[in-house]
Amino acid sequence: MTETITVDRPRERVALITLNRPKALNALNLRAMREITGAAAELDGDPEIGAIVLTGSPRAFAAGADIKEMAPRSFSDVHAADWFAGWDALSRVRKPLVAAVAGYALGGGCELAMMCDLLIAAETAKFGQPEITLGVIPGMGGSQRLTRAVGKAKAMDLCLTGRTMDAQEAERAGLVSRIVPADTLLDEALDAAATIAGMSAPATMMAKEAVNRAFETGLSDGLLFERRVFHSTFATHDQKEGMAAFTEKREPRFRHA
Ligand code: HXC
Repeated sequence: MTETITVDRPRERVALITLNRPKALNALNLRAMREITGAAAELDGDPEIGAIVLTGSPRAFAAGADIKEMAPRSFSDVHAADWFAGWDALSRVRKPLVAAVAGYALGGGCELAMMCDLLIAAETAKFGQPEITLGVIPGMGGSQRLTRAVGKAKAMDLCLTGRTMDAQEAERAGLVSRIVPADTLLDEALDAAATIAGMSAPATMMAKEAVNRAFETGLSDGLLFERRVFHSTFATHDQKEGMAAFTEKREPRFRHA
């Protein structure tokens, strides 16, 4: 039984994880970390699911890691427990994750959104890394993923001043895939996830892996990795089917498992 999230299947082959701590603006406590990463891992292993949407509420995607839970901890507590390392499990999810962000995505909330593959923002979304205002620094990837996403200048600005940026600024900076009206956010995110889930499952996982490789490696290694993975798509049913369908002017019937 989950306490901090709900998990639904609102469309064919699409799962929806909704953060559900409204009184704390979806602040991410340890239980939320375990429930989100646990649900995502389970859905990743489910052949009936092709893509996962992660969302919060209209007011807050997530207002950060739970400050009240962190406040009394000592250095040795957080060091010994390797506090936040558990979030790495989300990076091991091989199916596409779509973040649907409205309202506050601050600190750990911004970092959680950045762990997803597509980031769809409502016009109301506000992003920031305000940890500096608490006397700490980002601890779930903010200084690394934000810098890779938006560059050093803006990452420094956000991490050092703690200011927030709105959806328009975040899109201009390259953090956000698309901006949509708040009342259509969830539908747009579910539509995007359904589109992805309708594609070839192996090609989808390979595309995600190849794009992510760009964050981990140099250009020539990345290009070689891409080419080898591209070659391997020719071993799949879906390459034969996708290209035959194009030639025969019909919709492809991809295998999803
Ligand atoms: C715990 C939180 C919380 C958080 C909000 N709440 N954010 N509780 N952890 N991160 C709680 C408030 O205490 C309050 O509970 C309730 O949610 C509503 O929040 P308000 O502040 O009353 O709402 P509002 O005035 O609208 O302001 C919204 C807000 C503000 C601007 C988002 O709540 C805020 O600044 N929150 C903290 C944002 C932040 O600093 N995030 C980064 C955390 S550190 P009560 O019970 O009082 O009604 C982090 C990474 C740490 O994420 C990594 C390094 C270790």
